[in-house]
Amino acid sequence: MKHEPYSTRRSALLEQIGDGVAIIPTAPERVRNRDSHHPYRFDSYFWYLSGFPEPEAIIVLLGGNDSQPVSRSIIFCRERNEEREVWDGFRYGPEAVCDAFGFDEAYAFAEFEHRLPDLIASRSRLWYAFGHEAAVDTEVISALNTVRAQSRAGKRAPGEIRDLREPLDRMRLIKDAHETDIMRRAAAIAAAGHARAMRTCRPGMAEYELEAELGYEFRKRGADGHAYSPIVAGGHNACILHYIENNRLLSEHALVLIDAGCELEGYASDITRTFPVSGRFSGVTRDAYEIVLAAQTAAIAAIKPGVPFIAYHDAALRVLVQGMIDLQLLAGSVDGIIESETYKPFYMHRTGHWLGLDVHDAGEYKSGDDWVVLQAGMALTVEPGLYIRPGATVPEHLHGIGIRIEDDVFVTTDGCEVYTSAPKSIAEIEEVMRRD
Ligand code: GLY
Ligand code: MN
Ligand code: MN
Repeated sequence: MKHEPYSTRRSALLEQIGDGVAIIPTAPERVRNRDSHHPYRFDSYFWYLSGFPEPEAIIVLLGGNDSQPVSRSIIFCRERNEEREVWDGFRYGPEAVCDAFGFDEAYAFAEFEHRLPDLIASRSRLWYAFGHEAAVDTEVISALNTVRAQSRAGKRAPGEIRDLREPLDRMRLIKDAHETDIMRRAAAIAAAGHARAMRTCRPGMAEYELEAELGYEFRKRGADGHAYSPIVAGGHNACILHYIENNRLLSEHALVLIDAGCELEGYASDITRTFPVSGRFSGVTRDAYEIVLAAQTAAIAAIKPGVPFIAYHDAALRVLVQGMIDLQLLAGSVDGIIESETYKPFYMHRTGHWLGLDVHDAGEYKSGDDWVVLQAGMALTVEPGLYIRPGATVPEHLHGIGIRIEDDVFVTTDGCEVYTSAPKSIAEIEEVMRRD
């Protein structure tokens, strides 16, 4: 059934919440200016558990207990409305939503506030992510107070309030088959966008022209759009980690760094490629690029089940630091430079993050003092870089070089699988950019 991955996840969550009630709202629509809204993006937790695309919706999950042994999966959603549907399009309404999305019960969104006290009464635990959606926070607190005020009538409010992000983040950390299928497709679209940018790049173009090529490829291939603001950074703009202006011209002798991924069915891809605007790497950019590529290769080799999350960062860092010594950016030993952190002006970020519905996806990196241990089914990025800002106290011919190479990876049972495939080696990039 179409709703199966989502209803299966709800059942898995219900198993974990025991005699509890969980409340999961979707995101509100957000005004961009006056009557125009930002393109609607549902809340990732809500989407993970429903696949339901409309705003103004809330899931309530009731775990089984002694008096009601069967768990219940409830959704509140917008009612059908002929006039609004003329303007904004189809709504499922409570009548159709159960069949289409596998819920047991459905009510109008407007009834949420009125029904909530009864839903939470007589459950020992409330699972909710306070601090996420302020308007719903207020309604949940109000419902708790309503039930507490009814204690003489024998009603009991949940005595324990737990953060719903904990079980959901643990679940989201391990991708199921439905998710990995979408993520592979999102990755293929993003890779096609990067290859198109390489093919169309010409000296003198504006950075936004390459952004347009990526956006065209993403939409043409059915993605919803960018998963995050794309970075198209020519020359030293690549040394600004979150450069998103994308409004400068691309000089013939510069590199261009593109960090862009699409969103497909809610899931992000996240790819970075750096290539020469001219189509040919020169001496020093070639050396610097090979260092970052070698760092990425070392990082990928370090990803396997059973190792701590930080291991692949450490592997990349050692190669990058050796490269910094070879380029005469730094002097000393690899261990000494890592110990003193003098590499940080040239490499200041971690080598990757979890990937999924959010580009920096849900999930802890540490539990207490210990790094989370990698397991099969996790998805993460591998994105080492080297940034030599203009003005750095290093040989001038290196100034303004900014390189990052980023791929998306699944942890497998015996290692990992890189599932992004845009041109990456110097030979592949120069081949795709050949103009004869
Ligand atoms: N594109 C965001 C990141 O690489 O983390
Ligand atoms: Mn990333
Ligand atoms: Mn990225």
